[in-house]
Amino acid sequence: MLKSRQPFFILILLGLCLQLFTYFSYADVGTAAWYAPPYLPTACYGNDQSQFPSSNLFGAAGEGIWDNGASCGRQYLVRCISAAEPNTCLPGLTIQIKIVDYALQSVSPPSRSGTTIVLSQAAFAAITNSSSTATSINIEFQQV
Ligand SMILES: *[C@@H]1O[C@H](CO)[C@@H](O)[C@H](O)[C@H]1NC(C)=O
Repeated sequence: MLKSRQPFFILILLGLCLQLFTYFSYADVGTAAWYAPPYLPTACYGNDQSQFPSSNLFGAAGEGIWDNGASCGRQYLVRCISAAEPNTCLPGLTIQIKIVDYALQSVSPPSRSGTTIVLSQAAFAAITNSSSTATSINIEFQQV
């Protein structure tokens, strides 16, 4: 009686594994630059000071994820995976940032144009080696 049910349990297990797999491999790969103050006004929230998370981990959306402004307020997990300059990424660190601006309209220009995301100084510093002079990094990112 129990034995005849085994194929169903195996199917359910396989289904669960597949779901876990797609969950953990959802992240995309892209690039990130950084920008310095002044950050106001932003394309998303203008001069509102309260738009910045207290962690100061925020950023400006590049062309690819701007989504015509719909990306405002979205949260992303960001991880530094590599850079042209060695020893740039701090391994094993993931930060959560909030989109508050559009990279093509930010008051301060990005350290490099055309990246997926432009990180605030605090966000960039949180995942990179402070002795690095990199203007951009390769990242893994995922919307929360
Ligand atoms: C930061 O970079 C310097 C110079 O490349 C290197 O000597 C140091 O080990 C790096 N620190 C970390 C935490 O990776």
